[in-house]
Amino acid sequence: MTYDEIIRTAVKALEYSGNESPEYEVRELTKHFFGVSRRDLYAVRNKQADSKTENAFFEAVRKRSEGYPLQYILGSWTFMDCELEVGEGVLIPRDDTEVCVRAFREMLNVSSPVIIDLCSGSGAIAVSLARSYPDAEIFAAELSDDAFTYLERNVRSNGAEAIVRTLKGDISELYQQFEDGFFDGIISNPPYIRTEELPHLQKEVQCEPAMALDGGTDGLMFYRIICEKWLPKLKKGGIVSFETGEDQGAQVCSLLEKSGAANVRIVKDISGLDRTVTAVMQ
Ligand SMILES: C[S@@+](CC[C@H](N)C(=O)[O-])C[C@H]1O[C@@H](n2cnc3c(N)ncnc32)[C@H](O)[C@@H]1O
Repeated sequence: MTYDEIIRTAVKALEYSGNESPEYEVRELTKHFFGVSRRDLYAVRNKQADSKTENAFFEAVRKRSEGYPLQYILGSWTFMDCELEVGEGVLIPRDDTEVCVRAFREMLNVSSPVIIDLCSGSGAIAVSLARSYPDAEIFAAELSDDAFTYLERNVRSNGAEAIVRTLKGDISELYQQFEDGFFDGIISNPPYIRTEELPHLQKEVQCEPAMALDGGTDGLMFYRIICEKWLPKLKKGGIVSFETGEDQGAQVCSLLEKSGAANVRIVKDISGLDRTVTAVMQ
């Protein structure tokens, strides 16, 4: 088939499956499989594509039509200008998380900050903070074996080894390694979906690890752990920034207030939904 025919067939297949941005996704897949970018496409449109690559491309289109995430097919994704390797076993970094990172950066005003990213996954937060704070010491804690492998690779591939220290383990135990008052900032996008909602999530999200999503019966399990075990690890005046679900802002605020945090505030995303809660330790 020519590139033109391939692209038209693939767009139709994705459209038929209900995909919301078939042209964009086919462009990404074309670049990934054939190395042909949007700019080059016009010049090659009537050329025959390599048939082996064509088979692999259409296999990916088939998987994508069945709801397999585009990001897992491409094997990498961009978060705040950082290129991150992703695949099965690790949560795909979301644009929503930028709200949490930006709010954290706006509040942090110390030099050489000591920071921890709890439930770090691919390392999206830790790696992007390393770029903003080259003089920081950033810890990144993650329990899942698969996610931890991606985390370590992403720290290396983004040249952040001198800044980010990866910690493998359960955040309900790792806190014991640190003295009280150790950190200037805690940031976390923990699992926050209620367990009963997991089977009803969209197909793409169901391909992601349950461990990255499941926040327990009320979705708040990890916020409780962090408030109880980790807030004492903040210095006086230290800051915390949590990503939250769109209906969890008030509950997370209340957990933080009960733990003695001050200036507790909800930050909304561009759609006006609760997306982040920040606070300061007094
Ligand atoms: C919602 S994902 C967030 C990943 C990443 N921070 C991001 O924003 O893309 C939550 C992460 O927490 C990890 N996790 C789940 N339980 C954990 C635990 N008890 N201790 C440490 N990490 C845990 C999951 O494996 C997953 O990578």
